[in-house]
Amino acid sequence: MPAVVIVGAQWGDEGKGKATDLLGSRVDYVVKFNGGNNAGHTVVIGEEKYALHLLPSGILSPGCIPIIGNGVVVDLAVLFEEIDGLEARGIDTSRLLISANAHVIADYNRTMDKVAERFLGSRKIGTTGRGIGPTYADKMNRIGIRIQDLFDEKILRQKVEGALELKNQILTKIYNRRAAEVDETVAELLTYVDRLRPMVADTPLVLHEALAADKTVLLEAGQATLLDVDHGTYPFVTSSSATAGGACTGSGIAPTEISGVIGIVKAYATRVGEGPFPTELFDDDGERLRQNGFEFGTTTGRPRRCGWYDAPIARYAARINGVTDFVLTKLDVLTGWDKIPVCVAYEVDGERTEEMPMTQTGFHHAKPIYEFFDGWSEDITSARTVADLPSNAQSYVKALERMSGARISAIGVGPDREETIVVHDLL
Ligand code: GDP
Ligand code: IMO
Ligand code: MG
Repeated sequence: MPAVVIVGAQWGDEGKGKATDLLGSRVDYVVKFNGGNNAGHTVVIGEEKYALHLLPSGILSPGCIPIIGNGVVVDLAVLFEEIDGLEARGIDTSRLLISANAHVIADYNRTMDKVAERFLGSRKIGTTGRGIGPTYADKMNRIGIRIQDLFDEKILRQKVEGALELKNQILTKIYNRRAAEVDETVAELLTYVDRLRPMVADTPLVLHEALAADKTVLLEAGQATLLDVDHGTYPFVTSSSATAGGACTGSGIAPTEISGVIGIVKAYATRVGEGPFPTELFDDDGERLRQNGFEFGTTTGRPRRCGWYDAPIARYAARINGVTDFVLTKLDVLTGWDKIPVCVAYEVDGERTEEMPMTQTGFHHAKPIYEFFDGWSEDITSARTVADLPSNAQSYVKALERMSGARISAIGVGPDREETIVVHDLL
C-alpha cells in the first residue's frame, strides 16, 4: 500500500508536474498537499500542453482520483476556471475531491499580498501575488476561512467579520487602501457553494481507507525544499511546508504510511523571485540555459534566474526529505556545452564547506566551488536507456548521483511524457 511523495529538490519548477503525470496511470490517488495557485506545472502529452496551477497533475490521468488536501490554500475562482478550461479540452474533472479543512484565499488576502510586497520595497520577496502568504498567516492566526465554512452562511459571515476587524485597520491605516467589505466577500464566496458541495470530502478518511485497501497514493508537492517555510532560504520562501514532512500534515496521511520519497532535481538550477542563489549566472551561459530550457514562469511569466547544478543543495534536499530516488530532469538542456560546471562545495568567509551553511548570512556569503565535467553535443532527446546517452552525459549523471545523496532513478531528456529514461522503477 504505497504512499509515495514527490518533492522539488531545488527552488521549484524542477518538473514535478511531468513526473507526477508520468506515474499517473499507475496510481489511484494524487494529492496536492501544500501551496495553492502559486504553483505552475506544465505537462506535455503528445501534441497537448497543459498548465496546471491549483489542480493536482493527476487530474490528467483517467482513472486517478485527484485530491486537494487540507494543507492547500484554494482560490475558488481559479479552481473553477481551471476545471472549466480542462473540461473544455475534454478532460474529465468529475473525480476531484477537496478537503473540508483546506483554507480559502479571500479577495482581501490577494490585496494584502500585493500591497505588502510594495511596502517591503527592496526587501520584497518577489511573491506570485496570489495571496498565498496572507492566507497561511490567517490560518496560523486562527482567523482563516475554510472550505467547510462556506456551507454555513452565518458562520461564514462571522468569520469574515472577525478577519476583517483587524485586517481593515491594516489595509486602511498602514497600506492606505480601501477597506474590504464583509458583504462583498461573503457574497463572492457563496457563489461557489453549489458547485463546490459535491467535491468536498473528509479526505484524510478517504485516503486512510484507500491505503487500507492497498491503493497507491502519490503526494505531489508544490514549490520545493529551498522554498519551504522551515527548511528553505527564509524569508525568501513560500509560506507552506513543501518538504516531505508537509505531505503528512497537508494530507492527513501518517508518517508511518509513507513508503518512498521522490526528489525532482533539474540538471542545473533555477529560481523565481528574490533571495540567495549561489550558482546564479549573469552571463551568456545563464541566458542560454533560460532559452534552451524555456525558463519562464508558468504562473507569472517571469524569466527564471538560471545557474549551474548545486550539489550541496541536492544533498540537503535528500536529507531533509529522506529522498529515496531522484528524478533528474532537463538533461537535454545541457547539450552543446564544452564543459559543464557543477558546484561541489561552497567557500564561506574563506572556509570550504560541503553543506548548506547554517545561517542566512552564511548562505548569502557562499561562493560556489566548481568541478568541471566534459559536455556532449549529440541530441539526446530520443535516448530511452542510459546506454543511449553519450558517454560524457552518462559520466555527468553518475557524478551528480555520487554527489547528491540518493540514486537517480529516472532522467528527463525532453518535456514530453515519453522523453524519459527510467533507470529504476519509481513505485
Ligand atoms: P514544476 O513546477 O516542478 O511542475 O515544473 P514546471 O512545469 O514549472 O517547469 C518545468 C518545465 O520543464 C516545464 O515546461 C516542463 O514541460 C519542462 N520539462 C520537464 N522535464 C523536462 C525535461 O526533461 N526536458 C525538457 N527540455 N523540459 C522538461
Ligand atoms: P512550482 O510548484 C517557483 C516563489 C515565488 C517567490 C516565493 C514566494 O511551480 O514549483 P508566494 O507567492 O508563494 O508567496 O511566493 O516563492 N514561488 C515559486 N517559484 N516555482 C513555484 O511553484 C513557486 N511558488 C512560489 O516566486 O519567490
Ligand atoms: Mg512550476
